[in-house]
Amino acid sequence: MNLIKSPWRALLSLLTVAIGLPGLAQTNAPVPVLQIKADQVTTKVSPMLYGLMTEEINYSYEGGLYGELIRNRAFKAGATNAVFWSTIGDAAISLDPTAPLNDALNTSLKLDATQATKKSPAGLANGGYWGIPVQPKTTYHASFYAKAAGSFTGPVTVAITSADGKTTFASAEISDLTGDWKKYEVTLKTKKVKPSKDNQFTLTTTVPGTIWLQQISLFPPTFVDRANGNRPDLMQLMADMQPKFLRLPGGNYLEGDYINERFDWKKTVGDTAQRPGHRSPWNYWSTDGFGLMEYLHWCEDLHMEPLLAVFAGYALKHDYIKPGPDLQPYVQDALDEIEYITGDALTTKWGAQRAKDGHVTPFPLHYVEIGNEDWFDRSGSYDGRFAQFYDAIKAKYPQLKLIATVGYEHSESQRVHSRTPDLVDEHYYRSQEEMEAHALDYDKYSRSNKTKIFVGEWATRVGSPTPNMAGALGDAAWMTGMERNSDVVLLHSYAPLFVNVSDLKRGGSMQWPSDLIGYDALTCYGSPSYFAQKIFSAHHGDEVLATDSQNIPTVTWQPPAKKRNGVEQPRPPEQQIRKLFFDATGDSQTGTIYLKVVNSLGSPQPVQVEISGVTSVADQGSAIVLKADKLDDTNSLIEPKKIIPVTEKATGLGASFTRTFPPYSITILELSAK
Ligand code: AHR
Repeated sequence: MNLIKSPWRALLSLLTVAIGLPGLAQTNAPVPVLQIKADQVTTKVSPMLYGLMTEEINYSYEGGLYGELIRNRAFKAGATNAVFWSTIGDAAISLDPTAPLNDALNTSLKLDATQATKKSPAGLANGGYWGIPVQPKTTYHASFYAKAAGSFTGPVTVAITSADGKTTFASAEISDLTGDWKKYEVTLKTKKVKPSKDNQFTLTTTVPGTIWLQQISLFPPTFVDRANGNRPDLMQLMADMQPKFLRLPGGNYLEGDYINERFDWKKTVGDTAQRPGHRSPWNYWSTDGFGLMEYLHWCEDLHMEPLLAVFAGYALKHDYIKPGPDLQPYVQDALDEIEYITGDALTTKWGAQRAKDGHVTPFPLHYVEIGNEDWFDRSGSYDGRFAQFYDAIKAKYPQLKLIATVGYEHSESQRVHSRTPDLVDEHYYRSQEEMEAHALDYDKYSRSNKTKIFVGEWATRVGSPTPNMAGALGDAAWMTGMERNSDVVLLHSYAPLFVNVSDLKRGGSMQWPSDLIGYDALTCYGSPSYFAQKIFSAHHGDEVLATDSQNIPTVTWQPPAKKRNGVEQPRPPEQQIRKLFFDATGDSQTGTIYLKVVNSLGSPQPVQVEISGVTSVADQGSAIVLKADKLDDTNSLIEPKKIIPVTEKATGLGASFTRTFPPYSITILELSAK
């Protein structure tokens, strides 16, 4: 309903040119009108907007966020070979399970360097995760466990060299090896060199001998200098998003293909040399050097809180534990995990363990998710499994909000009925048009339903390895719906977060196309979707303002035919989808109004904005604009900043104004209102 008369509207309607898109109902389309009722607050903006979702996929941690530069440092990535390791000179390497470091790292690498000479050093090399990055004037920390045969004491030389071995960027010597396992550590300092990544780590000797090695590690400087810490550039990209929470540790990575391949948190804490590691469902080995404490440090360093997903007795290949006594040890594991995160260091067993692991203060925790995507569990056991976890967790931690993993996008029969979840986790991976078609879904959500929504995984999957502008537009349309319905959608997180873009062929560095942030060993970039999320997160008020609209442009869209049990279903009917999306929030302290407008059309879109319920709106404000010339425009390692938001001064604002929004654009107008 159009409540406000504007003298400009009729004129603008006349001036509006045909948008010329197929399916548009009218050619001389009337100007869209957006009304903001600034004195009508529909709800508070959820304090948990916006969040991050993470798991080990696409080499997210190992080969990504985790600072470790050596690939297969513990020699468990291949059952019989020292994969990702090669020899230098006349050397031989093999796995030696008869000489383990300990029960966790129950094998070692045997280096036969008996042919080493001064002229021809023998040793081994590791090319890292598609290269070892070298930065100028940088200190790297190398370490390894070693023991030697007979009277060999060394020295051994560790170095970072170019891949052809011709240039040495930094090196250091280690001696005093003995017949017993011992940890050796050394720093490697580069000079004023050009940044590069086609490099390797080497360990060589000129003295004939046989050496056993384990946990060969190389760390560059890390974010806030954390030991066993994270890559600073990726941490900074996330810090700029100002996230409120991190959903961890998955995703499928929580579950594993089989129960013995789940994220078994107790095996991921403490000394990294005591972590056995495990195979991830994304088909590569994880040393678990990035374990539960590292996730928590990540949260702490970015001032966000963990949203913990606990393993709930179901693994991806339909491996599950029946509710009842068999499930009880897993319930106990979850209780212990919550205690490890939140328990008092002096009075609780797992709180004391956390303190022993270096963090005396408990971490904040308000949300716990029970499982992941349990609609896949065909056994029908989720209701019972959820109930068992729910009862045990609520009994000990009544303040925690518990999330079920089957949301309203799934059939009634798959959902939890025996308990009322505090929230359900919904997942949406969609095309741009699907996102647009569903952008208003949460406006229709029942306000009497006590169960709230966590959209724990969502993405507009257009563009690979990272989404393009079409993806960003779909995301932004969808985010306006979530932000506007903040009383229902308490939290949401895009997925997946990371992709190593070094090797995009099958079996390479990417398992899932369309990921928010891309990188190789040396540099990183944010996709247009990243920037859409960053500006949404950094620019909103604390109250959602009532809005209304008229004349929203639409196009005709043919939804694709779906397959059921491998059989193509009849094409669904065509539908009209909107191409203009918006929401408005206000800052209760300053009066600033944040109007977000998404123009998904390929033509400029004049919009009439009417603001009521305020005394005045300043003529000047600011506009943060993310736009592209084409839908498939995108960012990449080569062009990391092709599509980035630009902040400009906005003039001609007021309680009633018209502004033309560029083609393919996402705009946040900051309006100064009193
Ligand atoms: O985000 C990628 C995967 O999609 C997650 O691991 C899983 O939860 C979902 O199916």
